[in-house]
Amino acid sequence: MYIGADYYPEHWPSDRWELDAEMMKEAGFNIVRVAEFAWVNIEPQEGQFEFDWLDEALAVLGRYDISVILSTPTAVMPAWVARKYPETLAMQADGTRIVWGVRKNNCFTSGAYRLLSERITRAMAEHFRDTPNVVGWQTDNEFGNPVCYCDTCRSDFQDWLRAKYRSLDDLNRAWGTHFWGHLYGTWGEIPIPVDPVTHNPSACLDWQRYHSWLNVRFQRDQVRILREVCPDHFVTHNFMGLFQELDYYDLAEDLDHVCWDNYPVWAKPEIPYKASIAADLMRGLKKQNFWIMEQTAGPGGWGAYGRNARPGEMRKIAFQQVAHGADGMVWFRWRTCTAGREQYWHGLLGHDGKGGRRYSEAAQTAGDLHRLSPVLEGTTVKASVAIIYDYDSLWAVRIQPGYAGNNYQEAAQRLHRALFRAGVNVDIVQSTDDLSPYRVVLAPDLYVLPDAVARALSRYVEAGGILFVDSRTGVKDETNLCHTRTLPGLLSDVLGITIEEYESLGHDWGRGEEYRYQVVGGEEFAGDYTAILTAEWVQARGAESLAGYQEWHLAPYAALTRNRFGKGWGYFLGTVIEEEGFYDLLIADILSRAGIAVPVAPPAGVEASIRANDDRELLFLINHTEELQTVQVPAGKVELLSGVETGETLTLDRYGVAVIRM
Ligand code: GAL
Repeated sequence: MYIGADYYPEHWPSDRWELDAEMMKEAGFNIVRVAEFAWVNIEPQEGQFEFDWLDEALAVLGRYDISVILSTPTAVMPAWVARKYPETLAMQADGTRIVWGVRKNNCFTSGAYRLLSERITRAMAEHFRDTPNVVGWQTDNEFGNPVCYCDTCRSDFQDWLRAKYRSLDDLNRAWGTHFWGHLYGTWGEIPIPVDPVTHNPSACLDWQRYHSWLNVRFQRDQVRILREVCPDHFVTHNFMGLFQELDYYDLAEDLDHVCWDNYPVWAKPEIPYKASIAADLMRGLKKQNFWIMEQTAGPGGWGAYGRNARPGEMRKIAFQQVAHGADGMVWFRWRTCTAGREQYWHGLLGHDGKGGRRYSEAAQTAGDLHRLSPVLEGTTVKASVAIIYDYDSLWAVRIQPGYAGNNYQEAAQRLHRALFRAGVNVDIVQSTDDLSPYRVVLAPDLYVLPDAVARALSRYVEAGGILFVDSRTGVKDETNLCHTRTLPGLLSDVLGITIEEYESLGHDWGRGEEYRYQVVGGEEFAGDYTAILTAEWVQARGAESLAGYQEWHLAPYAALTRNRFGKGWGYFLGTVIEEEGFYDLLIADILSRAGIAVPVAPPAGVEASIRANDDRELLFLINHTEELQTVQVPAGKVELLSGVETGETLTLDRYGVAVIRM
């Protein structure tokens, strides 16, 4: 297993490198990532390359058996690029160019920038292809920004639209430009929809797709060169979990595996639910295990720093990721830098370069992971429950949320949190994936619903699957126009309902107070709940109503329904319930109907996850709390970190972890 740190040899005198490498080796590290911001060190003047310093640093690391991931350093253009080719600086919506001096300053359509990027990529690839300890590449750094509004981007966007729609009539139809007299007579008239709140929603969705495609294209230009020159090296990129600007499925397509940057301990010591769903998404991008390329190593901040990780906490957040399929662990960063914006973004070593508590904990974690590595090999997370995570819906909800406060990621997280508490493995999938491997599919906020997807979902339920969907499902088609069928359109039969009316319980113009409706559950959901944000006036037409509203005007309508369709079940929730416990009941009902049993029922704050292959199952238990936690576990198995045989219960230390071979 590769374990290590993000390393910046260019920040330190070369006579320190040896000690760094020695300390890394002593910590059990065997990999570093380097050079993602070192373009100017490698190409100090256009076309003049200086590799000696990096050769020397890699050689020092090599002597300590430390492998290297090199990065294409295009996330920060050298000052000479900005000066010589000012058009490489991205233009902001107000028409001014970004002032060079931070990072991610570039326009991705600039011909000069694309050529410069290809040149530095090729020069590095050719220089390092035979360096023995180089094993792979990271493209750029955290793709996604900036958005550029220059004329080149605008005409490139128009070209992209022409390739997509072919005829202007088709584009006019797809965008509904008859509204407000926005019909286009030539491609050149199409503007960049700069304001996602007031511009045509269909244009805004295509602009977002174009922005995503642009980043993918830029990466692809680099990947093509790396594949050609360094066929034996892997190529990856450091993703950002729930980052929203790019379609991460597309960005992952050209890579060997996904890496991501995990920073869960900035503020309150709450349960890192978000890192849990993000890990499942990262695994879902390529349906394979992933790495952590930047793992929190201490308090972070660009001006003020945040909370420090408590003893044991760095180890448990690393194990949380391994439990979800991480096969590589790289901490950000090796040593806290003494200059620049990130002086307070703490690494494993302090400014003083000494290995203290955080270094020791990383070393302990590395030791644990190396010991586990032979049993982890070839295992991954296997799930019978899937959540559909759909970037079109996410973007369309952002552009036009419908009900005030509609938040795509929060809708997905609400369900994922309940599954976390239930101790169930979850896969994240695309709406177009084959769903037959799953007994349950949850599709939160599936706002953009192409007919083909609706039909596939219907077939899935008919064949025995259990589907859960909620408010605003299937409102839009793929060009972000409203469907004309009565909601939920093609899913009406599956769900046994129709929805002719709906309302928002708040208003994003901020006038007046939000409404809150009381919801009362029937026998299976007995209890009083609070409906917030939205209420769809759901008419059960064959479905059972499992919970209803107390409001007089909603008396004829249901809040939660369940419908038998073919051999499966379709669930619909037409509101958002404030009490999280409601979702626990919902998930329990769905799991029991699906016949999914969990190996352990984790106490609050303990996360359970299973990695498996054909011949073994490893149960991870992670205590995210600062209290001891006792879990009922299968007896007579071995806990692999301690080597101790399990009894009927196992007690986890504060932030403790256990890995039981089942
Ligand atoms: C990441 C980035 C790193 C570093 C870190 C802390 O997003 O990739 O280079 O900046 O944040 O700010």
